[in-house]
Amino acid sequence: MDKVSIIGAGLVGSTAAFVLARTGLCEIVLIDIQKELAQGKALDIAHAMPSLKNDVAIHGGDDFSLIKNSDIVIITAGTPRKIGGKREDLFVVNKKIVTSICENIKKYAPESIVIIVTNPLDLMARVAYDCLGFEKERVMGMGNELDSLRFAYFIREYSQAMYKEIDTKVIGMHGEIMIPVPEISTIKGIPISEVLAPQEIEEIVEKTKKGGYEVFNLLQQSAYCATAEAIKIMVQAILKDTKEQVCACVLLDGEYGIKDVFLGVPLVLGRKGIEKIVQVKLTDETQKELEEAAKEVKELLK
Ligand code: 2OP
Repeated sequence: MDKVSIIGAGLVGSTAAFVLARTGLCEIVLIDIQKELAQGKALDIAHAMPSLKNDVAIHGGDDFSLIKNSDIVIITAGTPRKIGGKREDLFVVNKKIVTSICENIKKYAPESIVIIVTNPLDLMARVAYDCLGFEKERVMGMGNELDSLRFAYFIREYSQAMYKEIDTKVIGMHGEIMIPVPEISTIKGIPISEVLAPQEIEEIVEKTKKGGYEVFNLLQQSAYCATAEAIKIMVQAILKDTKEQVCACVLLDGEYGIKDVFLGVPLVLGRKGIEKIVQVKLTDETQKELEEAAKEVKELLK
């Protein structure tokens, strides 16, 4: 059976573990420096499996050797966002955490595909890639898929379309300057820019950009349910080799005219990880926003 390890047993990591365990697709390992927390969460999730008739093993602990031979490793550990703070504020402290986790991934799961969830997402994806030394197809960040779910949520609010009719794409940074893209987001295959009024789209885009903050302000902590679902979408696409198109943060090597920057774009996911970066036609305005985002990521990494 495939094996997925999740580093960090906080709300994001443990909810992702539960959501993934419910799929019955893979054995799951939950790692945290708080050993009992990881063990307790793993045990609780394992106790739920008889109800689902899912015969999957779920282990928790603080020992990285548990992740041995994982097919996918998901990094959620890190200092979470502070009240009033931005995702980017966490760079220095989370860089250390992500680097030490990646050292262990190199040691115990050198063949794995690594999905980074820790914020600031686009910067942490870069940090992980540099430390891991894996080929770029096996290192990616999950942020845009979460943003895309929120985009779909707000489109439904304005259009009354059903979720199965909505397909959304959010590219760029997983931050305030994220780029929900109306020209490639559709209802029944028709771009929302042709279905909704410009004012409505403007409001939907603004609400999407603030979606994470809205949850954070209410909960006084980061979102984790939608986050876990977005992680599941990516893990399923990889394990089931669906070649599904998702938006994720990847190393661009000339695509969209951008080089050597981790940034969110549409791509095809499969068993090998990133199987193809999809280059859609963007409006001049969106292209400019993407280039600005690339500049911002480079600046923040300095
Ligand atoms: C979010 O968008 C905190 O990045 C996380 O909810």
